[in-house]
Amino acid sequence: MSLSNNQPLPSADALVYDEGVRERTDILHERVRDVVPEAEWPLHAPLIDAINRLKAERNAVILAHNYMTPEIFNCVGDITGDSLRLAQVAAEAEQDVIVQAGVHFMAETAKILSPEKTVLIPDLEAGCSLAASITGEDVRRIRAAYPDYPIVTYVNTSAEVKAESDICCTSSNAVPVVEAIARQWGSDTVIMIPDEYLAKNVASQTELRILTWKGDCEVHEKFTRAEIEQLRAEHPDAMIITHPECPPEVLRAADFAGSTGAMSAFVAEHHPKKAILITECSMSDNVAVANPGTRFIRPCNLCPHMKRITLAKIYESLRGMRFEIEVPSDVAVRARASLQAMLDLSGGGRPPAFDTSKPERRADYVSV
Ligand code: 13P
Ligand code: SF4
Repeated sequence: MSLSNNQPLPSADALVYDEGVRERTDILHERVRDVVPEAEWPLHAPLIDAINRLKAERNAVILAHNYMTPEIFNCVGDITGDSLRLAQVAAEAEQDVIVQAGVHFMAETAKILSPEKTVLIPDLEAGCSLAASITGEDVRRIRAAYPDYPIVTYVNTSAEVKAESDICCTSSNAVPVVEAIARQWGSDTVIMIPDEYLAKNVASQTELRILTWKGDCEVHEKFTRAEIEQLRAEHPDAMIITHPECPPEVLRAADFAGSTGAMSAFVAEHHPKKAILITECSMSDNVAVANPGTRFIRPCNLCPHMKRITLAKIYESLRGMRFEIEVPSDVAVRARASLQAMLDLSGGGRPPAFDTSKPERRADYVSV
């Protein structure tokens, strides 16, 4: 396949697994052999090969979230990581085009932080139950009801919601962001929306009063304390590692809690013999590739939104330069201020953990 002879590029289903593709992708096949079924490789390899050549031609960078399937994460992702890392990289990307291998709010965040770039998402329907739980109008009502309290908004929200907020956070920096904004406002109360469980888990890490919203991640809300206790009984030698979008009683039953970036870093640093990641299904595959000495037990829930992103759609996205993310400039300017406030507070280094031994504290819902 030539990509520079002005011939129309073949569609995804016309790509074939030939000797050249095999040779060029063998090294990647080796990397993911344990987590990608052998029979699937001939289907993935032509797409991987074509994407990697096309992204060089388009001067594009692929940002891949930790929940992408292992063939995306390991074989075409240029920058990989949690929501905070992807936002930081989007703000500084040198390429002309950003392809977001993740969900819509992540692509919108990239566009807000790099407005001069072309930002593509391979599937416009890749949403998020948290982003769908709240609107800009909801935040305006909260502001009117609680004018004295700062509003911290999780990045898993629309640009319009970010635009109505004082600062954003991710699960990597939620506690320091909440404490910093409380100090800036001289307030003992912070409104943290829309994830009720993240807010409750933050409440257990700080003396501040936290008010929240009834939004949930449809992946993490499903895990239960009983499930963790059963896993503990069946695998007493395993480290149980959770995400703070899980209910607080799930965190209390675990050994560690943190963002997807913190979960990966914990495994890389502690080299547990056996680990159980209480989160989205692809995470264990991707952490396993980087940590071959750890055995993973895989209870997990799939995120249907993340799973909309496939190699074929990434290829078609680059081939047709679609689907382009646009954010109206008045919304983008205000949303950018909330994101930039967060980035200004967030350095590099290992993302902090949630202390799972701290007692639960309430976070009441705002009443609007
Ligand atoms: P982080 O990668 O920031 O931990 O977020 C997890 C998540 O659910 C993103 O959709
Ligand atoms: Fe949203 Fe949860 Fe899916 Fe992340 S895992 S995109 S928070 S629904």
